[in-house]
Amino acid sequence: MNIIVAVDQNWAIGTNGGLLMDLTEDMKFFREKTNGSAVIMGRKTLETFPNKKPLKNRVNIVISKSSDLGSEGIIKVSSIQEALNEAKKYDNVFVIGGGTIYNQMLKYCDTAYVTKIQSKFLNADTFIDNIDNMPEWNIVEKSSLKEYNGIKFSFVTYKRA
Ligand SMILES: NC(=O)c1ccc[n+]([C@@H]2O[C@H](COP(=O)([O-])OP(=O)(O)OC[C@H]3O[C@@H](n4cnc5c(N)ncnc54)[C@H](OP(=O)(O)O)[C@@H]3O)[C@@H](O)[C@H]2O)c1
Repeated sequence: MNIIVAVDQNWAIGTNGGLLMDLTEDMKFFREKTNGSAVIMGRKTLETFPNKKPLKNRVNIVISKSSDLGSEGIIKVSSIQEALNEAKKYDNVFVIGGGTIYNQMLKYCDTAYVTKIQSKFLNADTFIDNIDNMPEWNIVEKSSLKEYNGIKFSFVTYKRA
């Protein structure tokens, strides 16, 4: 199972219910990587999508304890274990956020696609655990340094040893 996430230098991922910044190239990377796969997300991340609608061309597994989540186009599960059971049905699965889900599911993943944004967003309020501090995770691929609107970033792939 894979994790895909964009982080800043403090491993922040979000602010005020949204992303830290719009990074067009990262969105494209996300779309290409996850296209045709199953994605697992928390209820709050689903709510960040346009009209709170699931992502097209992907199986959307949404974790929530709430019973009144609409079910159109999503597979609703009510625990991490249930999400893991559901995920077994698919060849390619990506954990796509947000903070609570990344931090609970990283231990079940073996590949991490991390977009590393070389900034510190002082208004960030959602963070994930720092994979660079976990000896079992190794960098296997790193893109060149890219730049968008003066913000530098790179695509880094980690594998669990
Ligand atoms: N940078 C990135 O790559 C990236 C990617 C995705 C999201 N984000 C950002 O992350 C933020 C959202 O993250 P978040 O941590 O606040 O929310 P989240 O993880 O998306 O969703 C949290 C919700 O998931 C459900 N949940 C979590 N653990 C559960 C469990 N063990 N059992 C049952 N339900 C569970 C609960 O839903 P109920 O309350 O309905 O029970 C909980 O309120 C936003 O700012 C978003 O933009 C960033």
